[in-house]
Amino acid sequence: MRLVRPSLEWEVEHKGYVKEWGPSRMVPSSFDLSGHVTYQAYLQALALREAGNEKWLPSTSYFLITNNDRIVGMVDIRHKLNDFLRNVGGHIGYSTRPSERKKGYATLILSEALKKCTELNINQVLVTCDEDNIGSAKVILHNSGVEDESYTDSDGTVKRRFWINN
Ligand SMILES: CC(C)(COP(=O)(O)OP(=O)(O)OC[C@H]1O[C@@H](n2cnc3c(N)ncnc32)[C@H](O)[C@@H]1OP(=O)(O)O)[C@@H](O)C(=O)NCCC(=O)NCCS
Repeated sequence: MRLVRPSLEWEVEHKGYVKEWGPSRMVPSSFDLSGHVTYQAYLQALALREAGNEKWLPSTSYFLITNNDRIVGMVDIRHKLNDFLRNVGGHIGYSTRPSERKKGYATLILSEALKKCTELNINQVLVTCDEDNIGSAKVILHNSGVEDESYTDSDGTVKRRFWINN
């Protein structure tokens, strides 16, 4: 298993993941292919987004790939926090391919992402989840997350917030 950066090589696999995902909002949103005419255009937009702009802080996106070259997960690492990320988004966002859930992949994605955080000198890593996302809370606890105060959004959504001493 390994983390790899999105590139043309992964176009077919990425599209397969999106198809399986269905109509729900893609998580992390950086992997959403809608609105891009070609995969190349998506990769260019991703590069701009990763570099950071007025809307997005610098971030890095990776696929989790099996030894058979199948994408089973996706992860974004945000290099810094702003108010939104400190309360809601955290440093790391991830998902597992719907057909591959409950096999330990998200737990592995987070642990691999923490190694990337070490390379980026992010020593206190914030990871959040919705209060009803039992799976994600377990993933964070399996990676030594220590719970901080929750944050309640204006729409009433409660985010659980955990710090990982990296
Ligand atoms: C949440 C999510 C990432 C979990 O991925 P996963 O690969 O299934 O997670 P793991 O296999 O590592 O599971 C870790 C633990 O959570 C449990 N779990 C996973 N999904 C669960 C669910 N829906 N309900 C209850 N428990 C769940 C697993 O059984 C496992 O428990 P165990 O350690 O006691 O055996 C995945 O469901 C997903 O992509 N959801 C949509 C996107 C999302 O919510 N991302 C997280 C944003 S914070």
